[in-house]
Amino acid sequence: MNVRIAIIGVGKVGLATAQVYSHNATLTLFDLKKRIPQIKRDLTHLNTALVRVTSSEMILLRNDVFFFCLPTDYNQSVSDLDTDILFHYLYLLQEHRRLHQRYSKPTVIIRSTLPFYAVTKLEEFKNTLNVYYMPEFFTEGNELEQSLKPNQLVIGTEASGKWLKSFIKQCTTLDRNIPLYFTTLKEAVLVKLAMNTYLSMRIAFFNELASFAADQDGIHIPTVIGLMGKDSRIGSRYNNPSFGFGGYCLPKDTLSLANAFYSYNNVLIKNIPKSNDHLFQSIVDEIVRYHPIFKSDGTKTVIGVYKLGNKKGSDNPKGSVSLRLAKALQDKDYELLVYDPEHEKNKAFSHLTFSYELIAFKEKCDLILANRIDQNLKGVENKLFTRDAGLLDI
Ligand SMILES: NC(=O)c1ccc[n+]([C@@H]2O[C@H](COP(=O)([O-])OP(=O)(O)OC[C@H]3O[C@@H](n4cnc5c(N)ncnc54)[C@H](O)[C@@H]3O)[C@@H](O)[C@H]2O)c1
Repeated sequence: MNVRIAIIGVGKVGLATAQVYSHNATLTLFDLKKRIPQIKRDLTHLNTALVRVTSSEMILLRNDVFFFCLPTDYNQSVSDLDTDILFHYLYLLQEHRRLHQRYSKPTVIIRSTLPFYAVTKLEEFKNTLNVYYMPEFFTEGNELEQSLKPNQLVIGTEASGKWLKSFIKQCTTLDRNIPLYFTTLKEAVLVKLAMNTYLSMRIAFFNELASFAADQDGIHIPTVIGLMGKDSRIGSRYNNPSFGFGGYCLPKDTLSLANAFYSYNNVLIKNIPKSNDHLFQSIVDEIVRYHPIFKSDGTKTVIGVYKLGNKKGSDNPKGSVSLRLAKALQDKDYELLVYDPEHEKNKAFSHLTFSYELIAFKEKCDLILANRIDQNLKGVENKLFTRDAGLLDI
């Protein structure tokens, strides 16, 4: 018999989850903010015969397993990840089932990233829901491939591990050799937050090293980083200097772990976000110092931003450092021009002026900021402002 699976929140994680858990299952996808035709377009990789898309809360009654893939953005006022949307649906699920006298305990699998405080809140649902926290570890740009071939599945729960194992076996075509690790909820929360915080720390470390080298005579930072990376204990990933760690997950997950360490006397983890903010401010200051808003002929300096994504291959500008930089410079009254064919029609960026032509963009800009460089920037090395150590390979 097909398992009736509901996916609540059909963004990147929801779509990847739909792709994996669609075997011997009837899927219903629910999203309030994203329109149904758009979701249907995003589902081209699935056999849509068994997939329904809805915006009706009846979804909470008619299914057995619920994946929650809702946003948990950082919220300044609580200094942590905001789980209000997620808990709203957990209460609703509990309430709907009570009102309609559905006494079976539904299974809830949370894929949204959780902060520590959520573990205590989840205790409340112990008697009404079987809760599993299965964090997602994919990197953006490769989410569909990586979710079909994860290195491991980490599952925090107090519910039955045996049930989840057989569910995965029945409803996915995942390789049977992929290790499944069952942990407490707290351990799973820490694994997810600590992995992203570790990557942020690594990025911050290489960025500080690059800033130090830039102030010295006789240090070619690509040489130093290249040689360090040859040691297999260090390796060569997450070591390319940039305008800072960014993206949807690294900054917010790092802030969340830093918040968990708030009352501890340690210094390292708390200071990783500070290192990133410090770098950002020093980049803005450097640009302002060497490129005044007005040029000697009285016209404004035109600053170009080459691509808004955080890294090569990422189509998600959420939390983009280049975007943050663009905003900071726009606030200082520079004339700003963005080149990014991927996002030029995105309504979220209607406050930015896009250049649709690469040649014109290169000509018009006095300075071009590029978090990541590529062949397109050949010929304008003298206008480039980047920390990408791959500079020589252009
Ligand atoms: N994107 C990543 O690389 C990634 C990786 C690992 C974990 N995560 C975590 O997974 C979670 C989801 O991330 P994502 O990248 O899929 O986000 P997303 O923004 O792509 O998707 C979230 C979806 O939820 C929907 N939504 C928002 N509010 C809603 C509401 N009130 N009711 C119903 N639907 C609503 C949105 O329309 C959107 O489609 C977050 O906690 C994130 O930290 C993301």
